[in-house]
Amino acid sequence: MDKLVIRGGKKLKGTVEISGAKNAALPIMTAAILAPGHYILSRVPGLRDVMTMGRLLANLGAGFHHEGQKAFLSTERLTVFEAPYDLVRTMRASILVLGPLLARYGRAKVSLPGGCAIGARPINLHLMGLEKMGAEITLESGYVVAKASRLNGASIYLDIPTVTGTENLMMAASLAKGTTRIENAAREPEVADLANALILMGAKIHGAGESVVEIEGVDALKPVDYRVIADRIESGTFMAAAGITGGDVILKGCMPEHLDASILKLTEAGIAFDSVPGGIRVRGSSRPRATNVQTMVYPGFPTDMQAQFMALLCIADGTSIVKETIFENRFMHVAELKRMGADITVEGGTATVKGIRSLKGAPLMATDLRASASLVVAALAAEGKTTIHRIYHLDRGYEKMEAKLRKLGANMRRVKE
Ligand code: EPU
Repeated sequence: MDKLVIRGGKKLKGTVEISGAKNAALPIMTAAILAPGHYILSRVPGLRDVMTMGRLLANLGAGFHHEGQKAFLSTERLTVFEAPYDLVRTMRASILVLGPLLARYGRAKVSLPGGCAIGARPINLHLMGLEKMGAEITLESGYVVAKASRLNGASIYLDIPTVTGTENLMMAASLAKGTTRIENAAREPEVADLANALILMGAKIHGAGESVVEIEGVDALKPVDYRVIADRIESGTFMAAAGITGGDVILKGCMPEHLDASILKLTEAGIAFDSVPGGIRVRGSSRPRATNVQTMVYPGFPTDMQAQFMALLCIADGTSIVKETIFENRFMHVAELKRMGADITVEGGTATVKGIRSLKGAPLMATDLRASASLVVAALAAEGKTTIHRIYHLDRGYEKMEAKLRKLGANMRRVKE
């Protein structure tokens, strides 16, 4: 297991290239189940989650190969329709094979994801939607077993605008008979990106990226080559890192139009943004300002940026209130930030962060992907040495994070434990 050793206090300077979006690449990879053939997906980041999805697809009988920023997929001969516990356990996004398998092959067996570090995370809405489309679903020994001769279009209302739920249903509806209407759909850019890939494959989808999505089912789709959008959460994480160190960084390839809430909140915290050709320039101030923030579904402030933003607020001038409304247990970074001297109290889903002048380096434990990223952000500004253990969480979702930060001048290295 690797650990990161970071000596804080260096202002980040220079240009960083933003990778493709993990949470867009994963559903688009599963969309390849819908139409047999060869796919070349570009701007696919070399991440552990992408490799896990590749293994899952290979397990179904697909060909998968990742090289550079490209994923090569071939799905002509799928013979297995099951996502086993061992893969689903390491990556919840495995549930995204359910809709496509059911729509294309009429059957799927997918391990129930169970809870995870950030909350219970049920999939009841995915199942409700598929049942409305005519699927027969049973739970057998920890597995969702779904069958359907052909799915039918349906009107579906999602009690919560679930991201992967909307994606699963959109994929399933693309090959259903008739029209499906999803009300209160997730509006995240990754949902819209998946829809764009599906439309290129021949799907008839209207309104993706909005609250009501209509999908007119077609009989068959065709394989495509597709370029994934830039990762807005990686971008936001580098914005927080530039901000907390008082740095001056250009994010190349970033898509700021997907980051309105994060940019506005970081601006309130005293960070300056300027558009530059092909990206955005981020400049930190001598000390961030306190500001309140509440996570919300898109276009609100993303839960996936809450931990990194909180790291910045730890050294802000004044007291900030951070409310997490999406996941019930997404404050695991708090205990670690407190070990660096942060003054944070948590009550339910609300954290009160009293800004202190500076954080102190400490040995820390990474707990989940975004919590780990927040510890890196904090360590970059802390006095002295921070060691972050269990950084395999970071490798799930950040491509070459330490190489990118080192190029910006950070003093950090990865050490084998
Ligand atoms: N929910 C239900 N029932 C469902 C589905 C969701 O109650 O059937 C609840 C969840 O428990 C949660 C809320 O709805 O409280 C929102 O969950 P959602 O389903 O939208 O999350 P997700 O699709 O499982 C995706 C991202 C997450 C990101 C969330 C929220 C992917 C692969 N994952 O998860 O990304 O935090 O949306 O934006 O797209 C990450 O990248 O670190 C990450 C966790």
